Amino acid sequence: MKIRFAIVGCGSIGKRHLAVIDAESMAEVVAICDIEENRVRELSELYNGVPWFTDYNTMLSEINADVVNVVTPHFFHKQHSIQALHKGFHVLVEKPMALSVKDCREMIAAAATAKKKLWVVKQNRHNVPVRLAQEAIREGRLGKIFMIKCDILWNRYQGYYDESDWRGKIEKEGGALFTQASHFIDLLVWWCGDITGVKAITETQNHNIETEDSGVAILHFSSGTIGSLVWTTCVYHKNFEGSITVIGERGTIKIGGQYLNKMEFWDVEGFELPQGIDFNDKPNSYGKYQGTSSNHDKVIKAVVGVLNDQSAEVVEGLEGLRSIDAIEKIYSNIRQ
Ligand SMILES: NC(=O)c1ccc[n+]([C@@H]2O[C@H](COP(=O)([O-])OP(=O)(O)OC[C@H]3O[C@@H](n4cnc5c(N)ncnc54)[C@H](O)[C@@H]3O)[C@@H](O)[C@H]2O)c1
Repeated sequence: MKIRFAIVGCGSIGKRHLAVIDAESMAEVVAICDIEENRVRELSELYNGVPWFTDYNTMLSEINADVVNVVTPHFFHKQHSIQALHKGFHVLVEKPMALSVKDCREMIAAAATAKKKLWVVKQNRHNVPVRLAQEAIREGRLGKIFMIKCDILWNRYQGYYDESDWRGKIEKEGGALFTQASHFIDLLVWWCGDITGVKAITETQNHNIETEDSGVAILHFSSGTIGSLVWTTCVYHKNFEGSITVIGERGTIKIGGQYLNKMEFWDVEGFELPQGIDFNDKPNSYGKYQGTSSNHDKVIKAVVGVLNDQSAEVVEGLEGLRSIDAIEKIYSNIRQ
């Protein structure tokens, strides 16, 4: 069955949702919505006159769709997801799922009441090196994971914040952990368990914004793993590194590159790195800056698969909540 998607929020990454759904043979975009009329008009012209809306409620009332993709700024995620669920649509919400655990729980409850799915975009789980590491960890090949180290050393120019009415704002964006780090934190808690202890410091080093642009956290996970998270958007000129190093009893793995796209080190007992693997995870490019991997096509394919009763995995609400819980714990250690 062809799955019908509607998209709210057609900015930097909303356009990518539109492009990948359009390219997926088992999916179609039935409506798009953005408060910027010119933006949706132009996109509609590009995509065969797909119906466009500037009012979200109107779109929800008028469309026949299966899934609503919520691709608006963070502070709208809870509201826009719950509105769609109440109207009987499944929801695929961009990361971060919401700005607090409380909001995530309300979204999960709304999905349960509506008997609809609530998924969160975590496309980095599809990166080839991440999939390999996950296989080794799931099969217990690393033994106990002693330590994990995560570095997100990126560049965002001042205009990235200035040209947006929500980025860099405490109430609307939440901070760099919600924006740049949430994909990485998703993997840390996936592999090591929820955060049980944290000490953190943050600074706003080189941008004129309300939120931090740099931070360091020391973490303790429920599995007993200890770890560090270093994040910044202050790297000179361009992204330097987005990496995770796992130190296990029987193996060491470093996934690196700029956005977890390269296997930089692999030494796992009895598990040679398979030969001939194409580590070709491309970044999402937004003109002057590069984001994380562009595997949104795989997320859309998985949603289509689940709704067609095929075996496919998409991160669900309860799992998405775990990275918000971790982020909340790190910030609460600072913003007391
Ligand atoms: N998975 C990823 O790798 C990835 C990458 C980039 C962004 N994101 C996430 O996607 C979301 C959007 O980010 P972005 O960079 O595209 O932001 P953006 O500011 O470029 O786009 C947001 C869009 O939402 C529209 N909008 C705002 N309020 C609206 C409303 N009430 N109704 C309808 N439209 C409204 C804006 O006009 C804008 O076009 C964020 O949650 C962000 O963290 C995820």
